Amino acid sequence: MSRQRRLGAMATPIIAPSILAADFSKLGEEVRAVANADWIHVDIMDGHFVPNLSFGPEITSTVHQITDQELDVHLMIENPEKWVDTYINAGADCIIFHVEATDDHVALARKLRKEGVRAGFSLKPGTPIEPYLADLAEFDLVLVMSVEPGFGGQSFMPEMLDKVRTLRATIDEKKLGTLIEIDGGISEKTIAQAAEAGCDAFVAGSAVYRREDRAAAIDELRALATV
Ligand code: DX5
Ligand code: ZN
Repeated sequence: MSRQRRLGAMATPIIAPSILAADFSKLGEEVRAVANADWIHVDIMDGHFVPNLSFGPEITSTVHQITDQELDVHLMIENPEKWVDTYINAGADCIIFHVEATDDHVALARKLRKEGVRAGFSLKPGTPIEPYLADLAEFDLVLVMSVEPGFGGQSFMPEMLDKVRTLRATIDEKKLGTLIEIDGGISEKTIAQAAEAGCDAFVAGSAVYRREDRAAAIDELRALATV
């Protein structure tokens, strides 16, 4: 089956555990522990775009070798256009870059889709969504940050749900297939309101990996996000 086909329509809600919160001393076990998740969220930080470093293509490729699950790769890096090929080769199924980090988000989205991966953009909490609404058809996904990117374990910013509501209304009105994903502070306490506002996909780092039973945490989050 071609890669493009594999990336076809999927059931929502989508739960995407972030391996940033995993215990890296047993990465293989930690990836296999979330086999009931829909995607694996891979947070790439360069120490410039965000004030923290995480990991890069080697770990992404290692995760790809461990699992068949789709890799949702969140690039919190400057000059994403220079790196996307590396992450496609490492096994990314979806590449999300930040609009603050590129001058031509549409050109980059077109390149990603041409390579057969899903194209996503993300915005920091202070970046308005309105200037990007006209370009939504170019994207498979929008990742709304509900914390300042850079660190896991922060508190959810409920005011970011206004962006989600604006996106939901525009996507529905234009009858687009663009998915809305939310990232930061998603837990059993916050996921229902994000779902209510119109999110399709939910990143959860600490809410999954802080729990002893990672699979149970995912099932519970999915149930709470089913509206
Ligand atoms: C933050 C990352 C998030 C983070 C989420 O910069 O993009 O994906 O890992 O972690 P939690 O769910 O703990 O807020
Ligand atoms: Zn992320």
